[in-house]
Parts: sequence; structure tokens; C-alpha cells
Amino acid sequence: WPAFSGDIDAILKLKRERNAVILAHNYQTPEIFHCVADIVGDSLALARKAMEVEAEVIVLAGVHFMAETAKLLNPQKTVLIPDMGAGCSLADSITPQDVRLMRQRYPGVPIVTYVNTSAAVKAESDICCTSGNAKAVVESLGVPRVIMLPDEYLAQNIAAQTDVEIIAWRGHCEVHERFTPDDIRELRASHPGVTVLAHPECPPEVVAEADFAGSTAAMSDYVGREKPARVVLMTECSMSDNVAVDHPDVEFIRPCNLCPHMKRITLANIRTALEEMRHPVTIDPNLAERARLSVERMLAI
Ligand code: 13P
Ligand code: SF4
Repeated sequence: WPAFSGDIDAILKLKRERNAVILAHNYQTPEIFHCVADIVGDSLALARKAMEVEAEVIVLAGVHFMAETAKLLNPQKTVLIPDMGAGCSLADSITPQDVRLMRQRYPGVPIVTYVNTSAAVKAESDICCTSGNAKAVVESLGVPRVIMLPDEYLAQNIAAQTDVEIIAWRGHCEVHERFTPDDIRELRASHPGVTVLAHPECPPEVVAEADFAGSTAAMSDYVGREKPARVVLMTECSMSDNVAVDHPDVEFIRPCNLCPHMKRITLANIRTALEEMRHPVTIDPNLAERARLSVERMLAI
């Protein structure tokens, strides 16, 4: 990618000078994902691998809750997010006060919180989950009923796979809520034989029409394992771009929705982040310990 080579060369040099690594989510653009990232993956993999980082500085090419999770697991390291405005509609859908009210309303019912939340919300929760482990986390608790916050569709999609009763919240991902079952029917009509993979943040009616539903890593693994002749990933746009690089024999049909938050991260602001060491993620020490426990309980499963 010659157009990006100036920034790429500068970032590679800065990483060495700063003793920094770049963790990038699967929704980052290909020039970030393939050219400067050291570790890539879904939310679960990024959290797990953040614990193994030896470098002094972590640049999180993703959204703010991911950078907070990396900081929770690495309180002594500097964690940088290149754009503080890289938020998430799910994280914005719930406050710590909402979680306390749910606990009052359903006394004794454990609260499972999606990692797509603020550290303050995690601190009010019993355990975290990601789209990659939500069913295992829910079932690990050994109880007949759990509260699962804040993604209503993820909660409904997991409820369909388990006997555990799930009480949901009303948050939605602004990217995945836009997919419809009609989108899938039209795709199947216009691209016969297409394999449809959906993220579990999609509405349950969409997941029901798909051939497979799973986290971004699970979708990528599916393509590598099953090698479908043509595939569509009902998720954020960069996902197909990134996976397609490794699978030139698979035809990717690419209707998709952009995440404006993920797209705030660019090579230019990653470079600036490393040049100026900005923006360091900080977490209120009064809640960091409790939030970390929620994440660590999840990682122990
Ligand atoms: P996963 O990569 O964990 O599937 O999460 C998707 C997502 O929307 C992250 O913002
Ligand atoms: Fe949040 Fe959805 Fe964007 Fe992921 S894709 S960061 S869940 S708004």
C-alpha cells in the first residue's frame, strides 16, 4: 500500500523507540490490521493477549472499552487510544446506576456484562463475557437465571442456545441492528449458494436466517475451516476486507455496515499517538479493582 508507506514506516520505527505494541480489533482497516498491528483478534483474544504483553506501551486500535479492558489488565503499563471519541453504542446504552437498579430489582440474580461497556459498569457486574464466550460464561454460573447486559440481541441469541433464563437490557449495536432477514433472503436470491455468517449482535431473526453465527474470530475461523466458495459476513465492513486477504479462493459478497467508532482510528492518529504518547487511558482507582475482577473471572473460564 504505497499511499500509506510514510505512516507505516514511521509507526514501525516509533514502536521500536517506544517499546510499544499495537493491538487491533478485526474491524480495523486493512492497512492497520495487516501492516502495523502486532496482535489482532476479537474482543476476547485482545483481552487475553493484553495480559501477555511485555512491551511498556500498548496502542489499542479499536474502541474505548477495549482500551479500558487492556488497561484494567495492565495497570502498570501505558495504554493509548488514538482517538478518545472511539465509543460504542452498546457501552453508551447503560450506566452504573442502571446496573445497580437491575440488581435491586432481581436480588441474587448474577449479572453478566458484555465487555462492550465502561469500566464503571463492569465494576457493578459479577462477570464479563464477549460474543465468543457468552454461552460458556452464562452456563458456568450454575444458576437457572442470569441478567445479561446490555445487548438485547446477544442476550436473546444466547437464550436460544441454553436452558438458563436470561433477563436482557435494551442496548443494541448500531452496526448490527441494521441487518434484516430480508437482506439475507435477497442475498441468497442474487448470489446462489452463498454461505451467510452473522455476528450474534444481529437481531435473532437475522441469526435465524444465517448459516452460522459467531464472534468475529469465529466467523474468520469458519471461513478458514469450511472454505465456502462464496460467503457474506453480516458484520462491520473491514471484517471481510481483512479475512479476504488470507483467502483469495473465497468469493466475498460485501454488503456491510460501517462502525463510525472503529473508523475513527487511522494510521495517522496511531502515528500521532506514538509520537505524542496520547491519549493515555486512565481508570478511576475506586472502581478499577472491581472492574478487573469481572474481567478476570471471565478469563478464568
Ligand atoms: P467481537 O470481535 O468480540 O466479536 O466483537 C464485535 C464487536 O462489535 C466489537 O466491537
Ligand atoms: Fe460498538 Fe457495534 Fe461499533 Fe462494535 S460494531 S464498537 S458493538 S457500535
